[in-house]
Amino acid sequence: MLFRSAVPVIRLWQLTKTYGDGEAAVHALRGVSLSVYEGDYVAIMGASGSGKSTLMSIIGCLDVQTSGRYLLDGVDVELLNENELSEIRNRKIGFVFQSFNLLPGSTALQNVELPLTYAGVRSGERRRRAAAALDAVGLARRYGHRPAMMSGGERQRVAVARAIAVNPSLMLADEPTGNLDSVATDDVLAIFARLNTEGRTIVLITHENEVAQHAKRVVRVKDGVIVDDTRQSPIDGPPPLHTLTKYAPAGAHR
Ligand SMILES: Nc1ncnc2c1ncn2[C@@H]1O[C@H](COP(=O)(O)OP(=O)(O)OP(=O)(O)O)[C@@H](O)[C@H]1O
Ligand SMILES: [Mg+2]
Repeated sequence: MLFRSAVPVIRLWQLTKTYGDGEAAVHALRGVSLSVYEGDYVAIMGASGSGKSTLMSIIGCLDVQTSGRYLLDGVDVELLNENELSEIRNRKIGFVFQSFNLLPGSTALQNVELPLTYAGVRSGERRRRAAAALDAVGLARRYGHRPAMMSGGERQRVAVARAIAVNPSLMLADEPTGNLDSVATDDVLAIFARLNTEGRTIVLITHENEVAQHAKRVVRVKDGVIVDDTRQSPIDGPPPLHTLTKYAPAGAHR
């Protein structure tokens, strides 16, 4: 049983984000307050341009808010220097994007090894952990494949393997199934369900109700504010519609 902290993983107070200024200013976030506790699985939904990716970049320490406060595991992110921020991005947070963002000239194994290289893991251990992460997403037979030789679903599973290789406690995914067909979408959702069951906190942006149904909580954003926040299932417990049969419980990558 994992120790569950009383401190939220993510705590946002009246967060705003304005791009540009004067006449050209875009108020992407207009006061977002949100707490996410360890083990939760949150789907963020909302129309195009409502501020979802902006919110995700701030949560992921890729950008900073214009005003308001953000505490990540109780630490005020604004007070961290660039080294501390990149340490957090590398070790604590696993990112998955709609467009996979894999290096085209590198094999699946090399792509998954990359964050381990940044984390200073030596080559033998790096290979072992990258291979275990690929095994955990059902890609044991694709180590040597480059992205162009793989389907969209396989590419996204490589991206998920890369995100979990460093064993982050928080997974952030921006439209991870946006470019996938329904079979590949189910694969990725099954992996996310397992990662959440293993104790990882997940925040996922999606446009699809079918995807949001798999989350424990759905937060709706409109014009830069949260307009709805619905819990679909308890934090302590499996995510709804979870299918744990397809990929054997791993932990191999730990
Ligand atoms: N770097 C930027 N500079 C200026 N404006 C930006 C920038 N990034 C986003 N915006 C604007 O901020 C608003 C919110 O954008 P954001 O990308 O967060 O929306 P989104 O909800 O993720 O939309 P989508 O569903 O299309 O991905 C939009 O009006 C967008 O044009
Ligand atoms: Mg977006």
